[in-house]
Amino acid sequence: MSKDFQAPKGTNDIVPPDSARWLALARSAEETFTAAGYDYVETPIFEHTEVFERGVGEASEVVGKQMYTFVDRGGRSLTLRPEGTAPVVRTALEHRLDRGALPVKLFYAGPFFRQERPQKGRYRQFSQIGIEAIGADDPLIDAEVIELAVRFLRGAGVQPTLLLNSIGHLDPSCRRGYLDVLVGWLRDHVDALAEDDRAKIDVNPLRIFDSKEQRTIDAMQDAPLITDHLCDACRKHFDEVQTLLRDVGVGFEVEPRLVRGLDYYTRTAFELVAGGLGSQNAVGGGGRYDGLSEALGGPPLASIGFALGMDRILLAAESTGERDGGVEVYVVAIGERATTEAFKVATDLRRAGIGAQFDVTRRAMKGQMKDADRSGAAWAVIIGDDELDAAQVTLKDLKGGEQQTVGRSDLVRTLEERRR
Ligand code: HAM
Repeated sequence: MSKDFQAPKGTNDIVPPDSARWLALARSAEETFTAAGYDYVETPIFEHTEVFERGVGEASEVVGKQMYTFVDRGGRSLTLRPEGTAPVVRTALEHRLDRGALPVKLFYAGPFFRQERPQKGRYRQFSQIGIEAIGADDPLIDAEVIELAVRFLRGAGVQPTLLLNSIGHLDPSCRRGYLDVLVGWLRDHVDALAEDDRAKIDVNPLRIFDSKEQRTIDAMQDAPLITDHLCDACRKHFDEVQTLLRDVGVGFEVEPRLVRGLDYYTRTAFELVAGGLGSQNAVGGGGRYDGLSEALGGPPLASIGFALGMDRILLAAESTGERDGGVEVYVVAIGERATTEAFKVATDLRRAGIGAQFDVTRRAMKGQMKDADRSGAAWAVIIGDDELDAAQVTLKDLKGGEQQTVGRSDLVRTLEERRR
């Protein structure tokens, strides 16, 4: 096929039968997060570029190197959203959601865009599911948010490892003081670092912990760690988060080299990693961003959230092969007269909330039975002339093979009972 008619590099079509797993994941997100008091929010696919420059930070790789930024016909600089936290805070401020009860608890799901080098689990358009709790600084909300991420992933068939850290707050008594120590150490050990990482010392020294260069990774084993330089308040906060997670049985590993790639993070930072994904093993990440609201011109609002990569969850999930919902009943019509009846029966079932399908191409019974198997239906409802005359249908269990005759008017009730 001509290249012009293929999806652009780094993007994916979501087509059946896989698309059913996407829907199921989105549905399960809605159930899990609304049940914990998070309301759905949707923001535009593009934002004013400044939202990300000021929110996420110009020194971050995402803003500096990966954004799809364009100037529209009105001369405005717009950017396809590379992440959801800055837009969600922007929207909370714009709609003054922070004037109500705090924290404002929101969840979202949808596509995001980063011009990265594509590989398995890393795409230019990908989907995230995320939650944000805006306007609360108690360790209780950190623990709530983290427990939700872990539970949601487990429900999706992923067994994640939770990596936890605190990166303190931007003050000489805390992270700023640590950065001075770190930069001093890096200058002393510059020869031990890979060439590409040396320039980061002055721009974004923390990112050197994320280097993929073996030489740098080895050297950084001896680097000073943020956890040894937290101020008393941040240390106490971090300890309490850990205690609360233990209280609810959420296991974690403290990873003092975990720094996260977006500049807004403060205090709690975490990542969820899973096997089977190769180098792109983070299925999700998040943390506190206590200064983001102010960076966007709002009041101080300590906040925390996470985003999970849907593409990676589905790659990492043990595929159950079970289809969620969908067609439960296939209505088979034998003969001309039964065809209209099949349409009516399928419609009645659908109206009663039972997934149903029938043949619109008037095939012979054999073809319809094959289609019934393919559809994933648990039952076939078979209608021929005899059934029509007696106002009955034949109900066949497609897995076990048993058949029974059911009165036409009893069909919905019978199926509802058998479903339980
Ligand atoms: P992030 O770590 O940049 O955080 O992204 C979160 C997750 O999105 C990653 O762990 C990964 O699963 C998925 N993801 C990111 N980039 C790609 C890609 N190119 N291809 C496929 N999947 C990808 C954030 O975006 C923050 N906004 C999370 C957050 C919310 N922090 C606080 N609140």
